[in-house]
Amino acid sequence: MHAIRITEPGGPEVLSWSEVPEPSLQQGEVLVEVAATAVNRADVAQRQGNYPPPPGASEYPGLECSGTVLELGPGTEGSGWSVGDQVCALLTGGGYSERVAVPVGQLLPVPRGVGLAEAAALPEVACTVWSNLVMVGGLRSGQTVLVHGGGSGIGTFAVQFARALGARVAVTAGSAEKLERCRELGAEITVNYRTEDFTERLRAEGGADLILDIMGGSYLDANLRSLTANGRLVIIGLMGGRRTEIDLGRMLAKRLSVQATTLRSRPAAEKAAIVSGVLEEVWPLVEEGAIRPVVDRTLPLGDAAEAHRVMESSAHTGKILLTR
Ligand SMILES: NC(=O)c1ccc[n+]([C@@H]2O[C@H](COP(=O)([O-])OP(=O)(O)OC[C@H]3O[C@@H](n4cnc5c(N)ncnc54)[C@H](OP(=O)(O)O)[C@@H]3O)[C@@H](O)[C@H]2O)c1
Repeated sequence: MHAIRITEPGGPEVLSWSEVPEPSLQQGEVLVEVAATAVNRADVAQRQGNYPPPPGASEYPGLECSGTVLELGPGTEGSGWSVGDQVCALLTGGGYSERVAVPVGQLLPVPRGVGLAEAAALPEVACTVWSNLVMVGGLRSGQTVLVHGGGSGIGTFAVQFARALGARVAVTAGSAEKLERCRELGAEITVNYRTEDFTERLRAEGGADLILDIMGGSYLDANLRSLTANGRLVIIGLMGGRRTEIDLGRMLAKRLSVQATTLRSRPAAEKAAIVSGVLEEVWPLVEEGAIRPVVDRTLPLGDAAEAHRVMESSAHTGKILLTR
């Protein structure tokens, strides 16, 4: 079969559509014929050599896919899945390929009303957003949540999900067009981080109960200042660096908590628990149309290099799909 290989750490040009061995199914895995995958920032970091796959994971990039079940591996007989089922899946790697082995607990049905290719835009953002806003962040109706990078794949999903939960949504983004798109998706408070201080704006709006942050170090202090008493900061990305100073006095006085998480390195059982929570609590919202996949553009899988260039330029809003 063919897959996108990272020939050496480097720029988008190191992504090569190459002939590679077929995946072999391990206990509890099914083989999926990939229809589409989607690009995540983590794939860019992996390509640059900064985010190696965890032990045992496929060496090819791709943290999600959609497609058709081709074969049931050992131990998956009673799982309820059959050959020919149309699925989408959360992956630990290997989505940029013609076929991929998937732990059965990481499969999801294609939601009603969503196309097979489009469904590849959902697993990674749905699992990340639901686990961090609900399980970790405890978001509830009526609370204010600040989503940094509202125009990102993660952001466009988080805005819709938080709105559907009944939260008041604030976003940051770097252009008027992205902020307008966030408003259409349900954001009430929109801040262009290039021209406005988000902390001042959030404080004028009564502060955030919860912040979903992708910047890390560069935003830590401003995030702590933007939170209300008992506020929670959940860090899922380090685009602004991994080290900074923290003012513990600020945390003490407002009883703040800070948590940082990553989905990819969680054990399979934790991923399966998240996938099952998403199926129960998020898929109905997708099927009733309260949340839609936001797809910026679709490119052929062989053009993964071009897709990475687009992502690195941040010209996109929402997800970039790669189809067979
Ligand atoms: N921990 C986890 O499990 C997990 C899972 C998935 C994703 N993530 C992380 O989530 C982040 C988003 O991922 P993605 O795949 O959705 O990537 P993406 O679509 O490329 O989004 C990155 C976004 O960040 C925005 N941005 C850049 N600088 C910013 C700043 N100073 N303030 C606010 N926004 C800024 C960019 O657009 P503009 O500058 O034009 O606004 C862009 O929309 C990444 O850091 C990724 O690693 C974490």
